[in-house]
Amino acid sequence: MHTFNYPYTIPQALLAEKVCTTIGMDKIFFQNSGTEANEAMIKMARKHGIEKYGPNRYHIVTAKMGFHGRTFGAMSATGQPGNGCQVGFGPMTYGFSYAPYNDLEAFKDACTENTIAIMIEPVQGEGGVHPATMEFMKGLREFCDENDMLLLIDEVQTGWCRTGKVMSYMHYGIKPDIVSMAKALGGGMPIGAICATEEVAKAFTPGSHGTTSADIRFPVLRHLQRLGNFSTEIWLAMRQRWVLILWKNLQRSLM
Ligand SMILES: Cc1ncc(COP(=O)(O)O)c(C=O)c1O
Repeated sequence: MHTFNYPYTIPQALLAEKVCTTIGMDKIFFQNSGTEANEAMIKMARKHGIEKYGPNRYHIVTAKMGFHGRTFGAMSATGQPGNGCQVGFGPMTYGFSYAPYNDLEAFKDACTENTIAIMIEPVQGEGGVHPATMEFMKGLREFCDENDMLLLIDEVQTGWCRTGKVMSYMHYGIKPDIVSMAKALGGGMPIGAICATEEVAKAFTPGSHGTTSADIRFPVLRHLQRLGNFSTEIWLAMRQRWVLILWKNLQRSLM
C-alpha cells in the first residue's frame, strides 16, 4: 500500500520526474499532507542556513494572517497569534517573525542577519481571498537573491492548476527555492510534497527527515494518471488488485 522515504519505487520515481519537469524544480521529497510538507520546507531551509552560514542562520519571516498548517513548525509559521489554531497550545516554536502581507518594505525590515528565508502563500485564504501583488512577489525574490536568503512558497492551497497556472508562482515569472504542495496534487487523495533546487535539497541527507507514508500508492498513481503517464487500464487493474488484497486481509482480521 505504501513505502516510507528510503526505498525507491517505480511509481514514485515516475511521479517525481513528472512533477519536477512540469514545474521546473530539481528535487522532490514526498509527504502525506500540507502541514507535513511545510514542516519539511521549514526544516530544509533551516538546515541549509545553519550548515551553510552558521548556527544562528535559521530565522524565517512569514506573513501576518497567513496559514501554513497545524503541526508545530507550520503553526508557528502561521502569523495569527490570536487565532484558534494557535491559542491554548503554549509557546510557538522560536525563530519566526511576521510582517503584513503585500508590504515589501515591512518584510525587508523584519529580516535580520539571522534570517535564512521568507515563506509566503501566493494567495492568502484566511479572512477573504488575497492574492500577492506582482511587485511584492518579484520584490521578495530580488530581496532574497541579494541577501543570500531563500524564498519558500506555500502552494498547498494554490498549487496544481487552482489559479490558472500549474503553480501560482508562475504568474509572477519567479521561481522559489523550495515549494510545498498537497491538496490538488492528490486530487482528493492524501499526498504532499516539497520540491527544491538541487543546491538547497542537499541539506537533507539520509536520516535528516522522513515519513512512514511517503509513497501512498493510490494518490501517487492517481496523480501520474492525471499527468498522462499511466494508462487508465493499468490504474484500474492495480486498484482491483488492491481491493482484493484489502478484502482478504479484512476477512482474516475478522476471523
Ligand atoms: C496554504 C496552506 N498551507 C498549509 C495547509 C495545511 O494543509 P493540511 O491541512 O493538508 O495539513 C493548508 C490547509 O488548508 C493551507 O491552506
